[in-house]
Amino acid sequence: MLSRSDSAVSHNCDPGVLKKSIEDHLQALLPEPESHDVVSLAMRESVMAPGKRIRPLLMLLTAHDLGFRGPKHTLLDLACAVEMIHTASLVLDDMPCMDNADMRRGLPTTHKKFGESVAILAAIGLLSKAFGLASASPELAGESRAQVVSELSGAVGVQGLVLGQFRDLSEGRSACSTESILDTNHLKTGILFSAMLQIIAIVSGSGDVTRQKLREFALDFGQAFQLMDDLCDSHATTGKDPHQDAGKSTLVNVLGKDAAYKKLHEHIQSADRHLTVAHLQGNAIRQFMHAWVENITAMNTPIMKIA
Ligand code: IPE
Ligand code: IPE
Ligand code: MG
Ligand code: MG
Ligand code: MG
Repeated sequence: MLSRSDSAVSHNCDPGVLKKSIEDHLQALLPEPESHDVVSLAMRESVMAPGKRIRPLLMLLTAHDLGFRGPKHTLLDLACAVEMIHTASLVLDDMPCMDNADMRRGLPTTHKKFGESVAILAAIGLLSKAFGLASASPELAGESRAQVVSELSGAVGVQGLVLGQFRDLSEGRSACSTESILDTNHLKTGILFSAMLQIIAIVSGSGDVTRQKLREFALDFGQAFQLMDDLCDSHATTGKDPHQDAGKSTLVNVLGKDAAYKKLHEHIQSADRHLTVAHLQGNAIRQFMHAWVENITAMNTPIMKIA
Protein backbone atom coordinates (compact mmCIF):
# COMPACT_ATOMS: atom_id res chain seq x y z
CA MET A 1 0.00 0.00 0.00
CA LEU A 2 1.12 3.58 -0.58
CA SER A 3 2.00 6.05 2.10
CA ARG A 4 -0.75 8.62 2.59
CA SER A 5 -0.26 12.17 1.41
CA ASP A 6 -2.27 14.85 -0.35
CA SER A 7 -3.15 14.16 -3.96
CA ALA A 8 -4.88 16.65 -6.23
CA VAL A 9 -5.44 13.94 -8.82
CA SER A 10 -7.29 11.55 -6.59
CA HIS A 11 -9.57 14.34 -5.30
CA ASN A 12 -10.52 15.63 -8.71
CA CYS A 13 -13.04 13.80 -10.86
CA ASP A 14 -13.51 16.23 -13.73
CA PRO A 15 -12.54 14.10 -16.78
CA GLY A 16 -11.28 17.17 -18.67
CA VAL A 17 -8.89 18.15 -15.88
CA LEU A 18 -7.74 14.56 -15.39
CA LYS A 19 -7.18 14.05 -19.11
CA LYS A 20 -4.95 17.13 -19.17
CA SER A 21 -2.92 15.84 -16.21
CA ILE A 22 -2.52 12.45 -17.94
CA GLU A 23 -1.33 14.06 -21.16
CA ASP A 24 1.09 16.38 -19.33
CA HIS A 25 2.50 13.37 -17.51
CA LEU A 26 2.83 11.36 -20.73
CA GLN A 27 4.71 14.27 -22.32
CA ALA A 28 7.11 14.34 -19.39
CA LEU A 29 7.64 10.56 -19.51
CA LEU A 30 8.28 10.61 -23.26
CA PRO A 31 10.33 13.77 -23.84
CA GLU A 32 11.28 15.11 -27.25
CA PRO A 33 14.19 12.84 -28.31
CA GLU A 34 17.39 13.70 -30.20
CA SER A 35 16.71 13.91 -33.93
CA HIS A 36 18.48 10.59 -34.74
CA ASP A 37 16.41 8.64 -32.15
CA VAL A 38 13.57 7.65 -34.46
CA VAL A 39 12.22 4.87 -32.26
CA SER A 40 11.80 7.22 -29.29
CA LEU A 41 10.11 9.71 -31.59
CA ALA A 42 7.71 7.03 -32.83
CA MET A 43 6.97 6.05 -29.22
CA ARG A 44 6.23 9.64 -28.28
CA GLU A 45 4.15 10.43 -31.37
CA SER A 46 2.04 7.27 -31.16
CA VAL A 47 1.23 7.92 -27.50
CA MET A 48 0.71 11.69 -27.80
CA ALA A 49 -1.62 11.36 -30.81
CA PRO A 50 -5.13 12.34 -29.67
CA GLY A 51 -6.52 9.21 -28.02
CA LYS A 52 -9.54 9.21 -25.75
CA ARG A 53 -7.42 8.15 -22.71
CA ILE A 54 -10.33 6.15 -21.36
CA ARG A 55 -8.11 3.64 -19.56
CA PRO A 56 -5.98 6.09 -17.56
CA LEU A 57 -9.09 8.20 -16.91
CA LEU A 58 -10.91 5.20 -15.47
CA MET A 59 -7.90 4.48 -13.29
CA LEU A 60 -7.83 8.00 -11.85
CA LEU A 61 -11.60 8.01 -11.31
CA THR A 62 -11.39 4.64 -9.58
CA ALA A 63 -8.67 6.05 -7.32
CA HIS A 64 -11.08 8.84 -6.46
CA ASP A 65 -13.88 6.38 -5.68
CA LEU A 66 -11.57 4.27 -3.52
CA GLY A 67 -10.43 7.29 -1.50
CA PHE A 68 -6.81 6.91 -2.64
CA ARG A 69 -4.59 9.42 -0.85
CA GLY A 70 -1.14 8.37 -2.07
CA PRO A 71 1.27 10.41 -4.16
CA LYS A 72 -0.18 11.88 -7.31
CA HIS A 73 2.86 11.06 -9.44
CA THR A 74 2.69 7.34 -8.60
CA LEU A 75 -0.95 7.20 -9.67
CA LEU A 76 -0.11 9.06 -12.88
CA ASP A 77 2.88 6.77 -13.55
CA LEU A 78 0.60 3.72 -13.33
CA ALA A 79 -2.15 5.30 -15.44
CA CYS A 80 0.40 6.32 -18.09
CA ALA A 81 1.97 2.86 -18.03
CA VAL A 82 -1.42 1.41 -19.01
CA GLU A 83 -1.85 4.03 -21.74
CA MET A 84 1.58 3.04 -23.12
CA ILE A 85 0.65 -0.65 -23.11
CA HIS A 86 -2.62 0.18 -24.86
CA THR A 87 -0.84 2.34 -27.45
CA ALA A 88 1.69 -0.43 -28.10
CA SER A 89 -1.22 -2.79 -28.76
CA LEU A 90 -2.68 -0.29 -31.25
CA VAL A 91 0.64 0.19 -33.08
CA LEU A 92 0.89 -3.58 -33.56
CA ASP A 93 -2.82 -4.01 -34.31
CA ASP A 94 -2.50 -1.53 -37.20
CA MET A 95 0.42 -3.27 -38.90
CA PRO A 96 -0.01 -4.86 -42.34
CA CYS A 97 0.26 -8.36 -40.83
CA MET A 98 -2.66 -7.56 -38.48
CA ASP A 99 -5.43 -5.10 -39.38
CA ASN A 100 -3.41 -3.25 -42.02
CA ALA A 101 -4.68 0.20 -41.07
CA ASP A 102 -3.56 3.54 -42.49
CA MET A 103 -5.06 5.90 -39.93
CA ARG A 104 -5.08 5.94 -36.14
CA ARG A 105 -6.20 8.77 -33.84
CA GLY A 106 -6.70 10.96 -36.91
CA LEU A 107 -3.09 10.56 -38.08
CA PRO A 108 -1.13 8.12 -40.24
CA THR A 109 -0.45 4.89 -38.35
CA THR A 110 3.02 4.45 -36.85
CA HIS A 111 4.25 2.02 -39.50
CA LYS A 112 2.93 4.31 -42.26
CA LYS A 113 4.88 7.24 -40.86
CA PHE A 114 8.04 5.52 -39.59
CA GLY A 115 8.15 2.12 -41.33
CA GLU A 116 7.35 -1.35 -40.01
CA SER A 117 10.61 -2.05 -38.21
CA VAL A 118 10.43 1.21 -36.26
CA ALA A 119 6.77 0.53 -35.40
CA ILE A 120 7.62 -2.90 -33.96
CA LEU A 121 10.53 -1.49 -31.99
CA ALA A 122 8.44 1.44 -30.73
CA ALA A 123 5.76 -0.98 -29.49
CA ILE A 124 8.39 -3.03 -27.65
CA GLY A 125 9.90 0.19 -26.31
CA LEU A 126 6.50 1.28 -24.96
CA LEU A 127 5.81 -2.08 -23.33
CA SER A 128 9.22 -2.05 -21.73
CA LYS A 129 8.82 1.53 -20.51
CA ALA A 130 5.41 0.67 -19.03
CA PHE A 131 6.77 -2.29 -17.07
CA GLY A 132 9.74 -0.18 -15.98
CA LEU A 133 7.37 2.48 -14.60
CA ALA A 134 5.19 -0.04 -12.77
CA SER A 135 8.14 -1.81 -11.21
CA ALA A 136 9.96 1.34 -10.14
CA SER A 137 7.36 3.08 -7.95
CA PRO A 138 9.42 3.89 -4.85
CA GLU A 139 6.31 4.53 -2.73
CA LEU A 140 4.87 1.07 -3.31
CA ALA A 141 5.66 -1.69 -0.87
CA GLY A 142 7.51 -4.58 -2.56
CA GLU A 143 4.54 -6.95 -2.42
CA SER A 144 2.11 -4.44 -3.94
CA ARG A 145 4.62 -3.60 -6.64
CA ALA A 146 4.96 -7.28 -7.54
CA GLN A 147 1.16 -7.61 -7.68
CA VAL A 148 0.88 -4.58 -9.96
CA VAL A 149 3.52 -5.95 -12.35
CA SER A 150 1.87 -9.36 -12.28
CA GLU A 151 -1.54 -7.85 -13.19
CA LEU A 152 0.00 -6.04 -16.14
CA SER A 153 1.94 -9.06 -17.31
CA GLY A 154 -1.18 -11.25 -17.17
CA ALA A 155 -3.17 -8.68 -19.13
CA VAL A 156 -0.61 -8.38 -21.92
CA GLY A 157 0.61 -11.96 -22.19
CA VAL A 158 -0.47 -15.18 -23.83
CA GLN A 159 -3.40 -15.51 -21.43
CA GLY A 160 -4.60 -11.98 -22.27
CA LEU A 161 -4.22 -9.44 -25.02
CA VAL A 162 -1.76 -11.52 -27.05
CA LEU A 163 -4.13 -14.49 -27.12
CA GLY A 164 -7.10 -12.20 -27.86
CA GLN A 165 -5.32 -10.64 -30.81
CA PHE A 166 -4.24 -14.06 -32.06
CA ARG A 167 -7.81 -15.35 -31.91
CA ASP A 168 -9.16 -12.20 -33.50
CA LEU A 169 -6.72 -12.54 -36.40
CA SER A 170 -6.89 -16.29 -36.85
CA GLU A 171 -10.64 -16.85 -36.36
CA GLY A 172 -12.14 -13.41 -36.96
CA ARG A 173 -12.76 -14.03 -40.65
CA SER A 174 -14.56 -17.36 -40.19
CA ALA A 175 -18.06 -17.91 -38.80
CA CYS A 176 -17.92 -17.62 -35.01
CA SER A 177 -20.50 -18.13 -32.27
CA THR A 178 -21.54 -15.23 -30.06
CA GLU A 179 -19.82 -16.94 -27.13
CA SER A 180 -16.56 -17.27 -28.99
CA ILE A 181 -16.61 -13.58 -30.03
CA LEU A 182 -17.37 -12.51 -26.47
CA ASP A 183 -14.45 -14.59 -25.31
CA THR A 184 -12.08 -13.00 -27.83
CA ASN A 185 -13.29 -9.52 -26.83
CA HIS A 186 -12.76 -10.42 -23.17
CA LEU A 187 -9.16 -11.37 -23.96
CA LYS A 188 -8.23 -8.55 -26.30
CA THR A 189 -9.96 -5.71 -24.45
CA GLY A 190 -11.59 -6.77 -21.16
CA ILE A 191 -8.56 -8.18 -19.38
CA LEU A 192 -6.60 -4.92 -19.62
CA PHE A 193 -9.64 -3.02 -18.27
CA SER A 194 -9.74 -5.48 -15.40
CA ALA A 195 -5.99 -5.31 -14.69
CA MET A 196 -5.92 -1.53 -14.63
CA LEU A 197 -8.62 -1.29 -11.98
CA GLN A 198 -7.04 -4.10 -9.95
CA ILE A 199 -3.85 -2.05 -9.93
CA ILE A 200 -5.70 0.91 -8.45
CA ALA A 201 -7.40 -1.34 -5.91
CA ILE A 202 -4.00 -2.81 -4.94
CA VAL A 203 -2.37 0.59 -4.42
CA SER A 204 -5.44 1.81 -2.52
CA GLY A 205 -5.33 -1.17 -0.16
CA SER A 206 -8.87 -2.30 -1.09
CA GLY A 207 -10.43 -5.43 0.33
CA ASP A 208 -11.36 -8.62 -1.52
CA VAL A 209 -15.02 -7.75 -2.16
CA THR A 210 -14.17 -4.40 -3.68
CA ARG A 211 -11.47 -5.98 -5.82
CA GLN A 212 -13.77 -8.73 -7.07
CA LYS A 213 -16.61 -6.32 -7.87
CA LEU A 214 -14.23 -3.95 -9.66
CA ARG A 215 -12.98 -6.91 -11.70
CA GLU A 216 -16.54 -7.80 -12.74
CA PHE A 217 -17.36 -4.15 -13.44
CA ALA A 218 -14.26 -3.78 -15.64
CA LEU A 219 -14.98 -6.95 -17.63
CA ASP A 220 -18.53 -5.78 -18.36
CA PHE A 221 -17.36 -2.30 -19.25
CA GLY A 222 -14.62 -3.80 -21.45
CA GLN A 223 -17.22 -5.83 -23.36
CA ALA A 224 -19.39 -2.72 -23.77
CA PHE A 225 -16.37 -0.75 -24.92
CA GLN A 226 -15.39 -3.26 -27.61
CA LEU A 227 -19.04 -3.42 -28.75
CA MET A 228 -19.03 0.35 -29.07
CA ASP A 229 -15.82 0.19 -31.09
CA ASP A 230 -17.37 -2.36 -33.43
CA LEU A 231 -20.60 -0.34 -33.72
CA CYS A 232 -18.59 2.72 -34.77
CA ASP A 233 -16.68 0.84 -37.48
CA SER A 234 -18.42 2.67 -40.32
CA HIS A 235 -18.16 6.12 -38.71
CA ALA A 236 -16.01 8.71 -40.42
CA THR A 237 -15.22 10.48 -37.14
CA THR A 238 -13.24 7.81 -35.27
CA GLY A 239 -9.87 8.90 -36.65
CA LYS A 240 -9.42 5.33 -37.98
CA ASP A 241 -9.96 3.72 -41.38
CA PRO A 242 -13.70 3.08 -41.66
CA HIS A 243 -15.06 -0.39 -42.49
CA GLN A 244 -12.07 -2.23 -41.00
CA ASP A 245 -14.46 -4.92 -39.77
CA ALA A 246 -16.07 -5.69 -43.16
CA GLY A 247 -16.30 -9.47 -43.50
CA LYS A 248 -15.23 -10.00 -39.89
CA SER A 249 -17.10 -11.91 -37.21
CA THR A 250 -17.76 -9.02 -34.86
CA LEU A 251 -20.88 -9.13 -32.70
CA VAL A 252 -22.27 -6.27 -34.78
CA ASN A 253 -21.85 -8.22 -38.01
CA VAL A 254 -23.14 -11.47 -36.51
CA LEU A 255 -26.08 -10.15 -34.46
CA GLY A 256 -26.92 -6.92 -36.27
CA LYS A 257 -26.61 -3.37 -34.94
CA ASP A 258 -29.76 -3.26 -32.83
CA ALA A 259 -28.99 -6.54 -31.04
CA ALA A 260 -25.38 -5.48 -30.54
CA TYR A 261 -26.48 -2.20 -29.03
CA LYS A 262 -28.92 -4.04 -26.76
CA LYS A 263 -26.06 -6.27 -25.64
CA LEU A 264 -23.87 -3.24 -25.00
CA HIS A 265 -26.61 -1.83 -22.79
CA GLU A 266 -26.96 -5.11 -20.89
CA HIS A 267 -23.23 -5.04 -20.11
CA ILE A 268 -23.56 -1.46 -18.86
CA GLN A 269 -26.46 -2.42 -16.60
CA SER A 270 -24.49 -5.36 -15.27
CA ALA A 271 -21.42 -3.15 -14.76
CA ASP A 272 -23.59 -0.73 -12.82
CA ARG A 273 -24.89 -3.51 -10.55
CA HIS A 274 -21.31 -4.55 -9.69
CA LEU A 275 -20.50 -0.99 -8.66
CA THR A 276 -23.52 -0.91 -6.36
CA VAL A 277 -22.01 -3.66 -4.20
CA ALA A 278 -18.34 -2.67 -4.52
CA HIS A 279 -18.30 -0.55 -1.31
CA LEU A 280 -16.95 2.51 -3.09
CA GLN A 281 -16.63 5.89 -1.39
CA GLY A 282 -17.50 7.86 -4.51
CA ASN A 283 -19.60 7.76 -7.65
CA ALA A 284 -17.14 9.01 -10.26
CA ILE A 285 -16.72 5.87 -12.35
CA ARG A 286 -20.47 5.28 -12.49
CA GLN A 287 -21.08 8.86 -13.65
CA PHE A 288 -18.29 8.57 -16.20
CA MET A 289 -19.64 5.30 -17.60
CA HIS A 290 -23.19 6.65 -17.95
CA ALA A 291 -21.95 9.87 -19.56
CA TRP A 292 -19.97 7.71 -22.03
CA VAL A 293 -23.10 5.69 -22.88
CA GLU A 294 -25.16 8.86 -23.38
CA ASN A 295 -22.49 10.28 -25.61
CA ILE A 296 -22.20 7.25 -27.88
CA THR A 297 -25.98 6.88 -27.98
CA ALA A 298 -26.28 10.47 -29.19
CA MET A 299 -23.54 9.80 -31.77
CA ASN A 300 -25.26 6.71 -33.08
CA THR A 301 -28.96 7.55 -33.16
CA PRO A 302 -31.25 6.59 -34.81
CA ILE A 303 -29.91 2.98 -35.00
CA MET A 304 -29.12 2.77 -31.34
CA LYS A 305 -32.31 2.87 -29.36
CA ILE A 306 -32.16 1.37 -25.89
CA ALA A 307 -34.79 -1.36 -25.67
C1 IPE B 1 -9.28 1.06 -29.47
O1 IPE B 1 -9.20 1.62 -28.20
C2 IPE B 1 -9.08 -0.42 -29.38
C3 IPE B 1 -10.11 -1.12 -28.61
C4 IPE B 1 -9.81 -1.90 -27.65
C5 IPE B 1 -11.50 -0.96 -28.92
P1 IPE B 1 -9.65 3.12 -27.92
O2 IPE B 1 -10.99 3.37 -28.54
O3 IPE B 1 -9.53 3.38 -26.46
O4 IPE B 1 -8.56 3.96 -28.73
P2 IPE B 1 -7.92 5.38 -28.39
O5 IPE B 1 -6.97 5.15 -27.26
O6 IPE B 1 -9.01 6.34 -28.02
O7 IPE B 1 -7.22 5.77 -29.65
C1 IPE C 1 -8.19 -4.07 -31.18
O1 IPE C 1 -9.48 -4.22 -31.62
C2 IPE C 1 -8.06 -4.34 -29.78
C3 IPE C 1 -6.67 -4.24 -29.34
C4 IPE C 1 -6.37 -4.74 -28.22
C5 IPE C 1 -5.63 -3.60 -30.10
P1 IPE C 1 -9.74 -3.48 -32.99
O2 IPE C 1 -8.84 -3.97 -34.03
O3 IPE C 1 -11.20 -3.48 -33.26
O4 IPE C 1 -9.32 -1.98 -32.57
P2 IPE C 1 -9.34 -0.78 -33.58
O5 IPE C 1 -10.74 -0.69 -34.14
O6 IPE C 1 -8.32 -1.04 -34.63
O7 IPE C 1 -9.02 0.41 -32.70
MG1 MG D 1 -7.74 -5.65 -34.48
MG1 MG E 1 -7.77 -2.73 -35.56
MG1 MG F 1 -12.24 -1.90 -34.10
